[in-house]
Amino acid sequence: MQLPDQVTIIEVGPRDGLQNENALIPTEKKIQFIHSLMEAGIHEMELTSFVSPKWVPQMKDAEDIISSCLDTTKRHFVLTPNKKGVDRLYKTSCKHVALFVGVSNTFNKKNINKTTAESVTELIPLIHELKEKGYFVRACISTSFYCPYEGKISEADVMSLCAHFVNAGVDELSVADTIGMANPQQVFSLFTKLKARFPHVLHTGHFHDTRGMAIANIYAALQAGTMRFDTSVGGLGGCPFAKGATGNVATEDVVFMMHQMGINTNIELTKLTESLNVIRPFLTKSLNSNYDDIVQKTSL
Ligand code: HMG
Ligand code: MG
Repeated sequence: MQLPDQVTIIEVGPRDGLQNENALIPTEKKIQFIHSLMEAGIHEMELTSFVSPKWVPQMKDAEDIISSCLDTTKRHFVLTPNKKGVDRLYKTSCKHVALFVGVSNTFNKKNINKTTAESVTELIPLIHELKEKGYFVRACISTSFYCPYEGKISEADVMSLCAHFVNAGVDELSVADTIGMANPQQVFSLFTKLKARFPHVLHTGHFHDTRGMAIANIYAALQAGTMRFDTSVGGLGGCPFAKGATGNVATEDVVFMMHQMGINTNIELTKLTESLNVIRPFLTKSLNSNYDDIVQKTSL
């Protein structure tokens, strides 16, 4: 069994987690949540997103979140799909951006009102510009296994979309199972091919846990040599424009598995529960965290 000594967890709870909560959460609570995640040892995190406040009202306080939470010694990202978002980024001190696009045209239209090709055309010159200015750029590739509207996505389509971004100079590919339909065989196959074809970028797995497959998929990705995983404390999240999408795999479940296998994360598991307690009273969606369930039931 090939396992690394260390993996990196990229916490996406403040962005992917909270974007799917309809009731507006007070900005100061989000700020406290993010600070408590940092105290738990989270070094890489998506803090918020620059998207239309009409489409995703929960993210309308993005600038306030950045000004109160950004730690430039850490890898703190803002997610955005377009030039308007990059222009907002330039007005902040944040130097890490996550650009997103779907392999599936239908999903991309529903999510950002553009075809995949239109998004690529808009994003490629932006990536060149961002890299010239010294930014770290992560490309988030949605619907890399299945689309809720088009069904199964081919590996060839994922590889070809990733190639556009790698050729433009991105630093990282975060490859997503948006609706939690992938299985470990498919994950192993795709991540093995991505690593072989694009050896000079970081590879990250982003698994939603809609059907309880995310932990198995992470294990398969680990075996393919992937050492970075996007996770969300409490298992919060989901894309509001992907039919049937639910939360990301819970950070604490992944950290627990890694630590049990002797794989370091630099994250203090018990402190993740404290982070969740900050935001718990404001959540309307139920949590999806085995670790938190057992803590709540037994105080173990
Ligand atoms: P649109 O209506 O087609 O765009 O929306 P538009 O260009 O006509 O603009 C409409 C309004 O939005 C205008 O304002 C723009 O200025 C404004 P108005 O004139 O009406 O006042 N606008 C913006 N405002 C702030 N920031 C921006 C921005 N861009 C335009 N960046 C748009 C197009 C992309 C804006 C819209 O579709 C949108 O905001 N979509 C967001 C979708 C979203 O946030 N989805 C969730 C994140 S992706 C995800 O969760 C997947 C991921 O986790 C991986 C995975 O799991 O698969 C990453
Ligand atoms: Mg997601």
